[in-house]
Amino acid sequence: MTLIAPSILSANFATLGEDIKEVEQAGADWIHIDVMDGHFVPNLTFGPVVVNAIRPYTKLTFDVHLMIEQPERYITAFAQAGADRITVHAEACVHLHRVVHMIREAGLPAGVALNPATPVNVLENVLDDLDLVLIMTVNPGFGGQAFIPQSIAKLRALRTLLQSSGRTDIHVQVDGGINTQTSAMVREAGANVLVAGSSVFTQKDRTAAIAALR
Ligand code: DX5
Ligand code: ZN
Repeated sequence: MTLIAPSILSANFATLGEDIKEVEQAGADWIHIDVMDGHFVPNLTFGPVVVNAIRPYTKLTFDVHLMIEQPERYITAFAQAGADRITVHAEACVHLHRVVHMIREAGLPAGVALNPATPVNVLENVLDDLDLVLIMTVNPGFGGQAFIPQSIAKLRALRTLLQSSGRTDIHVQVDGGINTQTSAMVREAGANVLVAGSSVFTQKDRTAAIAALR
């Protein structure tokens, strides 16, 4: 089954709680929360205070994507603010194994994200502890960018790695440039969790937008 995770990066931040309620009613499975620090990526968003503020607006899973350096400094704060799962970037962690364990010790499923230039083999030695792998299908930092076609070959390489490791239960998430065209391609290549920002929030009929991606 394909899960759809609308990214609130493309929501109206002045009415964030209402936008979240609306995509929940429109059929969203998870709420994807993009945290940016202006260092790891060239953009800034928000921190645990905002996650805590929007927590009462939905019962859906808060899927927190940390695009920040040294994410280990903030795992506990995001867990306490209401994150249901946390994904960190392999490129942002000197001690990736330790950070993955910190997420699990906070009681949450752990994900690792890979930028477009990072090969899937960096996951080999942490795969046992993962619940999700996020293949970035754009360079992270902004919504509304074009899907990078090379991502398809990378998803296939990940599928091969997961099969050879006996971990086909791990969620394969994609993030960036997902629309009705690219969703079919990534699903065919093995993705089962689709993050979508602009292709959901720019549409008036969000129920139809989510259904079309699924
Ligand atoms: C990119 C973010 C994405 C972004 C996706 O840095 O991680 O979640 O919001 O936006 P779209 O779907 O518009 O490419
Ligand atoms: Zn994201």
